[in-house]
Amino acid sequence: MGCRWLLSVTALLLAAALAVNGCPPSDRAALLAFKSALHDPYLGIFNTWRGTDCCHNWYGVSCDQESRRVADINLRGESEDPIFQRAKRTGYMTGTISSAICRLGRLSSLTIADWKGITGEIPSCIVHLPFLRIIDLIGNRLSGEIPAEIGKLHRLTVLNIADNLITGELPRSLTNLSSLMHLDLRNNRISGPLPRDFGKLRMLSRALLSGNRLTGLIPSSVADIYRLADLDLSLNQLSGPIPASLGKMAVLSTLNLDCNRISGWIPVTLMNSAVANLNLSRNFIQGYIPDAFGPRSYFTVLDLSHNNLRGPIPKTIASASFIGHLDLSHNHLCGRIPLGSPFDHLEASSFMYNDCLCGKPLKAC
Ligand SMILES: *[C@@H]1O[C@H](CO)[C@@H](O)[C@H](O)[C@H]1NC(C)=O
Ligand SMILES: *[C@@H]1O[C@H](CO)[C@@H](O)[C@H](O)[C@H]1NC(C)=O
Repeated sequence: MGCRWLLSVTALLLAAALAVNGCPPSDRAALLAFKSALHDPYLGIFNTWRGTDCCHNWYGVSCDQESRRVADINLRGESEDPIFQRAKRTGYMTGTISSAICRLGRLSSLTIADWKGITGEIPSCIVHLPFLRIIDLIGNRLSGEIPAEIGKLHRLTVLNIADNLITGELPRSLTNLSSLMHLDLRNNRISGPLPRDFGKLRMLSRALLSGNRLTGLIPSSVADIYRLADLDLSLNQLSGPIPASLGKMAVLSTLNLDCNRISGWIPVTLMNSAVANLNLSRNFIQGYIPDAFGPRSYFTVLDLSHNNLRGPIPKTIASASFIGHLDLSHNHLCGRIPLGSPFDHLEASSFMYNDCLCGKPLKAC
């Protein structure tokens, strides 16, 4: 009993001492070096970064309760915070992300998002921050490559670098991110292939890579990611066929492959799968639309336009439980448009620019 009492008193005294002393001076120095590489001309958020305790009232900084080390940097250029409301504008910052952040050895999340004007590279030393769970750098003007050793961050769950100017290939180590759940690299200039072992990312639920310069095949290992719900590879230069295994994925609900150079036939499995948003528009897809729709077919979007599809619209499509938006235009389809409830609301534009489709809503056969 006495011992316990002594222990808790010691803990209390220790906590009090730390609270008085604030954050470790080395963390404070690292934050100040980080701040000095950035320029925030309109909001003045760094005016709050003063005093010795960087864990207290420094805008966007929070610390671990026990260790009092800096755990989160959370700076978003679009926010409801009073600082933004007073300034009546969204954030804008120039400058770079200083490698001084790599001295914040307990950093768990790094969010520097939507500042529009931050340039320079992602400091490659961040791969040595073993506690990092979140990297969110969306909406800046970052250039250079994704750090080659990113795969070392085995706790990383979110990697969001969308809407920047990132170049180079996807690093080989990427597929070592065994905790990664959310990968968003949309709208950059990333080139080269998707790693063949992409399917090693077993925890992934969203993989958003549209608007890059990716080439090569869609790796069939993607189908090993049984939690994957959204796969967006649109607006790249991917080629080869759609792996048939994609149609067997348990929870895949969005599959956007539009605007690539994909060829081959549409896998039969895809018509009667969990996929509800399917955009294959603007590719080189050939052959027939698989006659394999059924009650499981539920499409909010089914866009197969601008391909080389031929033959009829399959009869089973009438057995789909729902088709919200259908676009079969700009193909070489021919024959009578099926009747049935999924078709009742569709307009002529869904069927235009084919070889010889006929029947409602086009002209009678
Ligand atoms: C991925 O991790 C394994 C095991 O830690 C390691 O041996 C391998 O070198 C890593 N791969 C890359 C490309 O970094
Ligand atoms: C499908 O992709 C094409 C090409 O990127 C795009 O124009 C179209 O709007 C998309 N369809 C839907 C329904 O979102």
